Amino acid sequence: MTTSRKYFYHSQQRKIIPANDQKLNNIAKKKLAKIKASEEFDKLPRIFRERWEEVGLYHPSGEIEKAEALVLNPEDGAYSLSNKINHLTGKQWTRSIKSWFIFDALQSDIREEKEITQKAGLNSEDHPATYSPTMMADFISFFTKEGDLVLDPFNGIGSTLVGCDRTGRRGVGVELNEKYYEITKLRTKQKVIHGSSEKIGELLKANKIKNINFSISSPPYWNILQRSTGNFEKKRSEKNLDIQYSDKEMDIGNINSYEEFINRLAEIYFQIYDYLVPQAYLVVIVKNVKKAGRNYPLAWDLAKKLSEKYALKDERIWCQDKVGLAPFGYPFAYTSNIVHHYCLVFRKE
Ligand SMILES: C[S@@+](CC[C@H](N)C(=O)[O-])C[C@H]1O[C@@H](n2cnc3c(N)ncnc32)[C@H](O)[C@@H]1O
Repeated sequence: MTTSRKYFYHSQQRKIIPANDQKLNNIAKKKLAKIKASEEFDKLPRIFRERWEEVGLYHPSGEIEKAEALVLNPEDGAYSLSNKINHLTGKQWTRSIKSWFIFDALQSDIREEKEITQKAGLNSEDHPATYSPTMMADFISFFTKEGDLVLDPFNGIGSTLVGCDRTGRRGVGVELNEKYYEITKLRTKQKVIHGSSEKIGELLKANKIKNINFSISSPPYWNILQRSTGNFEKKRSEKNLDIQYSDKEMDIGNINSYEEFINRLAEIYFQIYDYLVPQAYLVVIVKNVKKAGRNYPLAWDLAKKLSEKYALKDERIWCQDKVGLAPFGYPFAYTSNIVHHYCLVFRKE
């Protein structure tokens, strides 16, 4: 250990600056050596372990004896040794807890999907509702630590699993549609299971998967694809792309009764409950939907239903800002373009 190691604290100017007092630095040195020798060390973020010689102790008012946090780059904030949820510093954490965010699909993500799948004669655009791995990686980084296990029961073409690759997590996905399952296998080496999540308990058991740290998914938004506007259908048919996920009965996007849809979907998440570690989070991304002039508050109804087993902790509203708008309702009645989704946050408590 070098004697030049520094610790950091907030000065009166509210800046993070190194301390020059040798006595305090020696206390910091001893504390850091203790952490290095303890089991705690292996649980630290990889970057802290790899650059351990540059890591300093941190206490908000400089009381180094009481310091319970580490600093690598002062600009990024301090990492609390008591962080049970993730590998983020306080500053990074704060950026993730606004109750809404704007996110539009990144061109770099779309290119990645296309390049990999087209080489194999498949087309990632075939899936009508894919998500950006960048957005999934943000959720994964908040709700897990490196090395943790993440489950997506509605895998699609594997955005969650690619998010796991990018953040050093282990991922498992379940997908009913064989084509999307094949596309996922081209994109990632993470585990993807071809099957119906209505049997997710059996599938996880057969694959010896347990102790899941986090689940994030976006199920079909009821049978919304079957009721999509003529424009969506026309454009996709012209390009010979899928208009719905599949025509299978097991595809929950083909259930016509709203009540049956909510119940069967909830049943899938209830099965997952037993495979999650205690205190694990479950995030479900859904939308409220409209049909024949009636509003179906799918997100709210699902939140209520899942609360029978999970604790509903929060919601984050995902807004899309680059979606083409239509003059719905004009000139007779108010009806919005729905360009926001609910990321419902539950916990196994
Ligand atoms: C909204 S999409 C998920 C998209 C995914 N997040 C992505 O970025 O690719 C819903 C997915 O659920 C799948 N699905 C529908 N019913 C299913 C079932 N019973 N079991 C497993 N997957 C199912 C559909 O094929 C579709 O790919």
